[in-house]
Amino acid sequence: MDNLIQLVNRLQRACTALGDHGEESTLPTLWDALPSIAVVGGQSSGKSSVLESVVGKDFLPRGSGIVTRRPLVLQLHRIDEGREYAEFGHLPRKKFTEFSAVRKEISDETDRETGRTKQISTVPIYLSIYSPNVVNLTLIDLPGLTKVAVDGQSESIVMDIENMVRSYIEKPNCIILAVSPANQDLATSDAIKIAREVDPKGERTFGVLTKIDLMDKGTDAVDILEGRAYKLQFPWIGVVNRSQADINKNVDMIAARRREREYFAQTTEYKHLAHRMGSEHLGKVLSKHLESVIKSRIPGLQSLINKTIIELEAELSRLGKPIATDAGGKLYMIMEICRIFDGIFKEHLDGVRPGGDKI
Ligand code: GDP
Ligand code: NA
Ligand code: MG
Repeated sequence: MDNLIQLVNRLQRACTALGDHGEESTLPTLWDALPSIAVVGGQSSGKSSVLESVVGKDFLPRGSGIVTRRPLVLQLHRIDEGREYAEFGHLPRKKFTEFSAVRKEISDETDRETGRTKQISTVPIYLSIYSPNVVNLTLIDLPGLTKVAVDGQSESIVMDIENMVRSYIEKPNCIILAVSPANQDLATSDAIKIAREVDPKGERTFGVLTKIDLMDKGTDAVDILEGRAYKLQFPWIGVVNRSQADINKNVDMIAARRREREYFAQTTEYKHLAHRMGSEHLGKVLSKHLESVIKSRIPGLQSLINKTIIELEAELSRLGKPIATDAGGKLYMIMEICRIFDGIFKEHLDGVRPGGDKI
């Protein structure tokens, strides 16, 4: 199964590579058919922190105020061995081995598009991480939903962000991580509101409750975590991310996770829920869910790929052979990739036996 997720990741990357080719109509469709996970919620609810802890790496700009100002499409690729590294879509030949440099490049690339303002841009940043310590996932970090424009922002920013977020999460293949902070009333949660709008039955929404450690004394999140306050199809997952003071002190991920585990295991109210709380648990749940989604989609993906091959062939003959242009070369390459995938999907489908779950 791991292999299959890796293949899907590769196909997504191929689609990304072709993205700047522009006029291609087929590949966005292919991209849309593949599952991804998007993080949504109000500004400073802890979205970037949640994403970081799912990945297990410190690499995202975080902080109070509007820090995430462009969508970040993050592909995690599990490699068997070797040193982990990161690569940006806009810097294809540069390998980043320092995650602090990755964070800096995300900030710089955000500023290149928007200037050092509080403006947002819908143009995504593509980032791939290759590591023996990740599960294969595609994750999308999004700017936070806000209620009012602040100084330096246009009046339309509230709607602009909402529309951008919606454009990612309305796709039926998008798994939604709806992030709500425990120190605010759940009834006012922007995450729940927009998730419910695009996924009314909650079939692809995971509720993540952050900032449990910041709740007022004498209150707790048990009603939410046990699904009584707001029921979701999947159980709520509570997390404790690093505070701003921790970020300032450079508390590392391993220490943060240990503390998170201890927090749930040792707090009287949450002890009985500890086995299904925390960032590591969230990562496992997501990976498992993604696998089952991909598995159920194989036949659909296969026919889509067949269609893509046919359309690419038509495009190629329109361009005329022999293919001399760069665009033609790219199309050719993508078509080859599609063929390989097609073969692999067939192989996997042949492996499906009634009653068996091998794919
Ligand atoms: P985003 O704007 O939704 O991406 O939120 P960030 O991840 O940037 O976090 C915003 C601020 O809240 C940062 O200062 C984080 O340190 C802090 N924060 C996020 N989650 C938690 C949490 O679970 N507990 C505490 N104490 N602080 C948190
Ligand atoms: Na923030
Ligand atoms: Mg953020």
